Amino acid sequence: MTRGAGKVAVIGAGNVGATCAFVLAQKNIGEVVLLDIYEGFAKGKALDMSQGGQILNYDGKISGTKDYEDIEGADVVVVTSGFPRKPGMTREDLVGKNADIISQVGQGIREHAPDSVIVMVTNPLDLMTYHMQKVTGFPPERVVGQAGILDSARMTHFISQTLGVSNEDVQAMVLGGHGDTMVPLPRYTTVAGVPITQLMDEKTIQAICERTAGGGGEIVKMLEKGSAFYAPGSAAAIMAESILKDRKRSLPCSAYLTGQYGLEDIYIGVPVILGSNGVECIIELDLEDPELESLQGSAAFYKEQLSSILGY
Ligand code: NAI
Ligand code: 2OP
Repeated sequence: MTRGAGKVAVIGAGNVGATCAFVLAQKNIGEVVLLDIYEGFAKGKALDMSQGGQILNYDGKISGTKDYEDIEGADVVVVTSGFPRKPGMTREDLVGKNADIISQVGQGIREHAPDSVIVMVTNPLDLMTYHMQKVTGFPPERVVGQAGILDSARMTHFISQTLGVSNEDVQAMVLGGHGDTMVPLPRYTTVAGVPITQLMDEKTIQAICERTAGGGGEIVKMLEKGSAFYAPGSAAAIMAESILKDRKRSLPCSAYLTGQYGLEDIYIGVPVILGSNGVECIIELDLEDPELESLQGSAAFYKEQLSSILGY
């Protein structure tokens, strides 16, 4: 399906949602709707962003609402509604409260934007993406989660700082769940095409992988209130743009697996092609045994949580 001039709805006008909407506005998306339970919060941010159009040279329509009627016709719905974690919490500690929010939001999307592609952001990401697919009943390729772009960008940043090279020339790859079990892949991480395994010693690479896996927590600890949002909101916007403009970008995202990597009936981070139909292809990397075991271990952790906490 080719999608039109473009309407993106962003559910949750908080830190991540507003950042995502702001990045989308600057990409001249036709229409961006911010929806939040706090109507004035969504409307105020939308008006503020609209007034920035002259300064930053964008023209699309940006509006705020609390009504699902206003997301009608959205090609992409980015879901950021839900609680962020506080210092000392894991993402999984958010599951109970956020699952209820996703159930409610999913019903609104199913009713008012039934042909959209959903980009999930709410944590715990891989579990909430699975839950959203069940609540909406959308085909699994039309529900996809944001995690890998952010986690890979964090790894990219640490590599660029260590080697003293531009972010632009680093291409990192992080798969698996968006949590402590994520799987950074140094063999598939390159600087201008050269694997980092040829550029850094093992100890340095290990330290970068560990800092990447703890990247969200590092920021939560500093902020004290809430969690990261500039990089996460931007990552979600990149996914929305690839879908809306059918760019078919190859990005690591949380996608529904049906046997790939020896895994099925699970959402987990893998490289995909993102186009107007959502996840158009899942790329199967040739993994070495320890890499595959780490990915499968990450999936096993979330499978257990899906069944023990969410009852799937
Ligand atoms: P925030 O607290 O700033 O914003 C959340 C917004 O959701 C609030 O404005 C709230 O009013 C709204 N909301 C709550 N219930 C709602 C409902 N039923 N319908 C519509 N809106 C509702 O939080 P922030 O920082 O924006 O984080 C949002 C979520 O994104 C959190 O769960 C956080 O953990 C997650 N996150 C995920 C990342 C990822 O890479 N997947 C990265 C960063 C955050
Ligand atoms: C992050 O990684 C909290 O998931 C959020 O920053």
